[in-house]
Amino acid sequence: MSLITRTAFPLPMQYLGSKQRIANWIVEEIKQQFPATSNLVDLMSGSGAIAHEANMRGWNLHANDIQPYSHRVLKSAFETPRTELTDIIEWLECGSLDEIILEKDRSRARTALLEEDEFFASASRGDFDWKEYASFCNNFNGLHTSATGNYDLFVAYYPNTYFGVRQCLEIDAIREKASQSSADVATHLIGALISSLTFVSSTTTHLAQFLKPASQSTALNLINCRARSVQEQVLKRLRLLVDYPMPDFATTSNLGFEKVLIGCRFDPNETIVYADPPISKSTILATTTS
Ligand SMILES: C[S@@+](CC[C@H](N)C(=O)[O-])C[C@H]1O[C@@H](n2cnc3c(N)ncnc32)[C@H](O)[C@@H]1O
Repeated sequence: MSLITRTAFPLPMQYLGSKQRIANWIVEEIKQQFPATSNLVDLMSGSGAIAHEANMRGWNLHANDIQPYSHRVLKSAFETPRTELTDIIEWLECGSLDEIILEKDRSRARTALLEEDEFFASASRGDFDWKEYASFCNNFNGLHTSATGNYDLFVAYYPNTYFGVRQCLEIDAIREKASQSSADVATHLIGALISSLTFVSSTTTHLAQFLKPASQSTALNLINCRARSVQEQVLKRLRLLVDYPMPDFATTSNLGFEKVLIGCRFDPNETIVYADPPISKSTILATTTS
């Protein structure tokens, strides 16, 4: 087992159910109870918080989740080579994404982007009018009918709902860049994007209904959320990934948990299988009655 320098997880996800805050304690308890552990199978890995703690102890890993978004993050953090990351980091640092956000079918959002920029500026100046902003949000909240599928999904469905106009354009442009990149770079770009979106969305922390401007203060809060740059968040995560310790041995999968152990090659005497299922009425009942 290698000695690892403790490092922050590069692709955290903000959502209800993540064990990020207690992951260290959980894995430390496992280590105390089962000192021979050198492998962890995380059957329902979600944000990867438990797999990360296992990685920090130099354990081998298998991280699985049935949700594709979660699997993309796990695959990027634990399994995918990072040799090409510096090129894409440089590409973002040069501001190249800004040159393509209004390209092709995303150009439909040009006027809305200018309007949004003006609301950001008025919020800084102190002459922001929340009613005007509410009206802008009502009038420009997606162009579903004109969606072409040519990397315009977010700008077609989510502006002024879960994200701002610029945020949607950046998301679609990053997704387009991923499609033009190698498989490894695409995995990292998409993993970093998914992680970032859970932090910049215009919702409460449990990512339920999006927030709406209903007063000066709620509208200014939305302006703050929507002024957060998606590409800066992605860049920050890609830089962290470069320095994140790569496990000696790690695999990931995107399966129902029942199928995961079938192909598992770990020595059962040194392996912990960790299962953290979603909360449901029946799990709460089982916990309270046992
Ligand atoms: C409570 S969360 C796990 C949280 C995780 N331990 C963390 O710290 O982020 C439950 C996870 O189970 C996954 N899940 C639900 N049903 C599943 C199934 N049948 N097989 C595998 N994963 C499943 C969900 O996608 C979700 O990510």
